[in-house]
Amino acid sequence: MLLCQISDPHIVSAGTRAYGKVDTGSMLERCVSKILALPRLPDAVIATGDLTDHGSVEEYRVLADLLTPLRMPLYLVAGNHDEPRALRSVFPQHAYLAGEDEFLQYAIDDFEVRLVVLDTTVRGRPDGELCARRLQWLDRTLAASNRPTIVAQHHPPFTTGLSLMDQMTLVNPEAEAEVIARHPHVQCVISGHYHRTIHTRFAGTVASVCPSTAHQLVLDLTLGAGIRFTFEPSAFQLHLWNGQQVITHTALVDDYPSWGSRD
Ligand SMILES: [Fe+2]
Ligand SMILES: [Fe+2]
Repeated sequence: MLLCQISDPHIVSAGTRAYGKVDTGSMLERCVSKILALPRLPDAVIATGDLTDHGSVEEYRVLADLLTPLRMPLYLVAGNHDEPRALRSVFPQHAYLAGEDEFLQYAIDDFEVRLVVLDTTVRGRPDGELCARRLQWLDRTLAASNRPTIVAQHHPPFTTGLSLMDQMTLVNPEAEAEVIARHPHVQCVISGHYHRTIHTRFAGTVASVCPSTAHQLVLDLTLGAGIRFTFEPSAFQLHLWNGQQVITHTALVDDYPSWGSRD
């Protein structure tokens, strides 16, 4: 199975730019074209949150148009910039978005690898938190099947050394770690939010952050560093299940010269 992950497209209304600067719509359009031009097409695409910048219906309509060319199943995850009600209203055909209670979380059993999507968002807050109900749901859902599983969420379950962003991420990763550690069939925990490629060990598995399809975060690991964004190359990730493990590749959206035979 080949799962494509895109993250943090931050789509804004047509004709505008995020921060007055970033043409996030065109950048997502190019990313979608790149995915469709891959020599091996992914079996599914998952978008790990901050799908829009302000969570408006208008922005979700722009997002829906931009994602329409993707012919494979598409799974949406809410980020801190998203608004679940507006999201659901624009994607009514995405039945899984009905979620669990008010949370936008669900499991997909249609592939060799099971997808379990966890809602880490808290209304009106940039950081994330997993309440007891969501943690119980995660535990129950992971216990329901021993099949290899990828857990996807917006806020990663670890801090990164990017200090100001670390004050705006999941506040209780240790609670998630306790649950994940009980389920060794979890192959990896994939996320977004940080607009960079990041990996670490987590609860007996691997946790990672996918870069943004739009702007990236400046890599500044000094203590107290502020949040600055950059037009470093935008990218997405391909998670390949080879029957035994998940291997993650980062793919740049821009094209570069290449040589050699394909065969
Ligand atoms: Fe974001
Ligand atoms: Fe975010």
